Amino acid sequence: MSHLSINPASPLDSLPLDRILEGDCVEVLATLPDSSVDVVFADPPYNLQLGQGLTRPNQSVVDGVDADWDKFADFKAYDALTAAWLGQARRILKPNGSLWVIGSYHNIFRVGTVLQDLGYWILNDVIWLKTNPMPNFRGTRFTNAHETLIWAARSPEARPVFNYEAMKNLNDDKQMRSDWTLPLCTGAERLRGPDGTKVHPTQKPESLLYRVILASTRPGAVIVDPFFGTGTTGVVAKRLGRRFIGIERDPTYIREAERRLAGVEPCPTPSFALRVKREEPRIPFGTLVERGLVPPGTNLCDARKRFHAEVLADGTLRASGPSGEVIGSLHSVGAAVQGLPACNGWTFWCVEDKAGVLHPLDTFRRRAREDAARPSFARTTRKKGDKQENVLPLRAG
Ligand SMILES: C[S@@+](CC[C@H](N)C(=O)[O-])C[C@H]1O[C@@H](n2cnc3c(N)ncnc32)[C@H](O)[C@@H]1O
Repeated sequence: MSHLSINPASPLDSLPLDRILEGDCVEVLATLPDSSVDVVFADPPYNLQLGQGLTRPNQSVVDGVDADWDKFADFKAYDALTAAWLGQARRILKPNGSLWVIGSYHNIFRVGTVLQDLGYWILNDVIWLKTNPMPNFRGTRFTNAHETLIWAARSPEARPVFNYEAMKNLNDDKQMRSDWTLPLCTGAERLRGPDGTKVHPTQKPESLLYRVILASTRPGAVIVDPFFGTGTTGVVAKRLGRRFIGIERDPTYIREAERRLAGVEPCPTPSFALRVKREEPRIPFGTLVERGLVPPGTNLCDARKRFHAEVLADGTLRASGPSGEVIGSLHSVGAAVQGLPACNGWTFWCVEDKAGVLHPLDTFRRRAREDAARPSFARTTRKKGDKQENVLPLRAG
C-alpha cells in the first residue's frame, strides 16, 4: 500500500493523483485527507450469493461472478463493509462533492439504506438498462436487464456539480433522463486473457463512466474509485481530463488497469468547452425591464400567439388566465395561462419585432449577459448603425 505525505497548504499535492493504490479500500481511504476529492464512484462487490455454478440449457457453464471478493459470510458482514467504505468516502468528499454507487438488486437497497443513515442525500437513482443482458437461463424469473446507480450528495445542503447542458447536448438537446440504455462491456473493449477468458467478471462499459463523469465533474476534478478493478473509471477520467485515484486489492487487476491506462490519450482540450449554465451571471427578468431592454408595457406572446401578456413596471406580467386575470413572474404567469404546474417563461414568452419575427425573452437575457461580459469601452463606443456581432435584438419594441 502507498504511504502518503499530507500537505494541507496545497490540497492537490497531498493526493496520490492518477495512481492505483493497492490494498483494502477502507484502510487506504483512511489515509486520504478530509474534504479533498470531488467525486467518489464505486462499483463494490454485489454479494451475488450464487450457489452452485450456473449452466445454460445445453449444460455449458455460464461465465458468471464467482470470485472470492464477492463472497460474504452474511448480510451483516456485507453491511459492515458498506458502512466502513461509505463513511470514509463521505469524509474525503468536499462539501459539495457527490458519490455514485452502482449495484444490482442483490445489494443496492442495502447500500441505499446505509448511505442515507450516514447522512448522504440521494439526488437520483439511475437505471442502466442493458441492451444485451444475459438471459435468465432457467426461465424461472424475468431477465435481469438493468443495474441501478445511486447518485448522492455528501449532505442535503451540498450543491454538487451537475453539467445539465452537457447532458442535454449528449441527448440530442432533450433533458437527460434517469434511464440510460447502454450495452454491456463486450467486443474489443472487454479485456481478455490469452485463452480468451474475461480478465475481470464485472468490467464496466466505458460509456457508463463517460456519462457519470461528464455529468458530475468539471475538467481537473478528482475522482476516487475504491473498487477499481480493471480501471474503467481511471480510463474515462484520463480521457476526459479529470484526475483519478484508484484503490484495488487484487494485484492482477492492478496490472491490467495500469496496462490499460498507459494506452489512453486525453481528449483534446476543446472537447471540454462545456457551457455551464449555472455559472453564467444570473439576470433576473426585472433587470431587463429596468435597463429598458424589455420596457414596461411591452406585449408578449407565446410562439404560437395563443397567449398574451403585458410587462408591468416591476418586472411582473399581467395576463388573462382560464380563471381570470393573473399577475406574477414570467414563469408563474406562463404556467397559469396554460393551466400547467410549471413553465420556463424565458423560452415561453416572446417579443414580436416590427418585421413580425418573434424573439424569446431568453434572447434578451443573452444580450444582457453579453453586455455584462463586454469591456465597458465597447459599449460606449458602439455607434448607431454599427454592425452587430450576432443577431440578438438590442431591445424590445
Ligand atoms: C465490481 S468489481 C469493479 C470492477 C470495475 N468497475 C471495472 O470496471 O473493472 C469490484 C472490485 O473491487 C475489488 N475489491 C473487493 N473488495 C475490496 C476491498 N475491500 N478493497 C479494495 N478492493 C476490493 C475486487 O477485487 C474487484 O476488482
